[in-house]
Amino acid sequence: MTTQNVVPSPGEGGAGPQGRSGPGPVGDGPDPNRIFGVASGFMLASMLFVASEIDLFRALEPDGATAEEIGEHCGVPARTARVVADVLAVSGLVLTRGDRYVNGQDTAAFLTGPELTGVEQTLRYWGRVSDPRAVHALEAVRTGRGIPWTMDDESTVAYEHAVAATTRAIGSSLAGKYDFGGHSTVLDVGGGMGALLVPVLQSHPHLSGILLDLPEVAPLATEELGRAGLGERCRVVGADVFIDPLPGGADAIVVAHLLHLFAPADCERILGRLRATATEDTRLLLVDWWRDWTVPPIMPSVAAAEFLMIGGGCTYPSAEVSTWLDATGWRLLEKRRLVDDTSLLVAVPA
Ligand SMILES: C[S@@+](CC[C@H](N)C(=O)[O-])C[C@H]1O[C@@H](n2cnc3c(N)ncnc32)[C@H](O)[C@@H]1O
Repeated sequence: MTTQNVVPSPGEGGAGPQGRSGPGPVGDGPDPNRIFGVASGFMLASMLFVASEIDLFRALEPDGATAEEIGEHCGVPARTARVVADVLAVSGLVLTRGDRYVNGQDTAAFLTGPELTGVEQTLRYWGRVSDPRAVHALEAVRTGRGIPWTMDDESTVAYEHAVAATTRAIGSSLAGKYDFGGHSTVLDVGGGMGALLVPVLQSHPHLSGILLDLPEVAPLATEELGRAGLGERCRVVGADVFIDPLPGGADAIVVAHLLHLFAPADCERILGRLRATATEDTRLLLVDWWRDWTVPPIMPSVAAAEFLMIGGGCTYPSAEVSTWLDATGWRLLEKRRLVDDTSLLVAVPA
């Protein structure tokens, strides 16, 4: 089979995650093209990461560009620019007009702005960190352990921006759907850039906050909180939740999108350490993609593979979380839906 045969064509069959991954017309019966459609996705993804890194999408603005013009803008040979642009064209992200390549509506909207967008930060993180790490996927699946990886500063910034871009709406939902009226101090553990804490503090002016994240992330959080005008109301602590002393005095503890990064024993360790800081009035607010669905949704299922690679994690059923809570001196009180497949588990000291 040639490369031509395995590259997905827009509008043709296929049953991949995005519904457009088949390389050719696919009938009702068994057809290897469904398999190749998914398998060849790695090359589409690689070329998308490359295109974003060399700034190809801005090269197409405002009226499209030839391979020669793309090469000039991006500082690469016209011949290799054409290879990348052709792959993007068959993916449907870029269109062709004669010998010119033109942005499709999605790339025009999300990949050509005056500043790096959250979508671009996500591509940067996946391209520089997740994609190279995926070479070790078999090892992670066999052992259930994450693949140790050191991130440089730019990748850390990309990761935190990418996460914040997807969790901001969840923060707004949490701020509206949980009653923070009786609380005075919220600790956000693994709070990243404050995507949850910022809307919670903005919606509830009586609250003060403590955001805890790794020392290399803390300065990003400080900057973001300052930008939101919350520098005075929120303290940032650079610490490792497994090792360092944890701040006390919070009567609401938020743990959002953190447990899914780790294996069950590590999740229990985190919950146990947080229990040691809690009083009987403390509420523990666990926000995540709890795996209580029967049909696996696209984003949480794809992301679970990444969580496995990062720290041996996955998406967990709330029933399993409940057993960790019982084992660490908490009791699960209720589950509330926030946004799409994301829910809030509220726990109290047992
Ligand atoms: C998926 S992000 C979630 C960020 C934020 N809670 C949100 O929902 O937007 C996970 C965060 O946990 C932090 N983190 C990972 N391991 C940690 C550790 N051992 N101690 C403290 N924070 C950690 C990461 O730096 C990252 O900011």
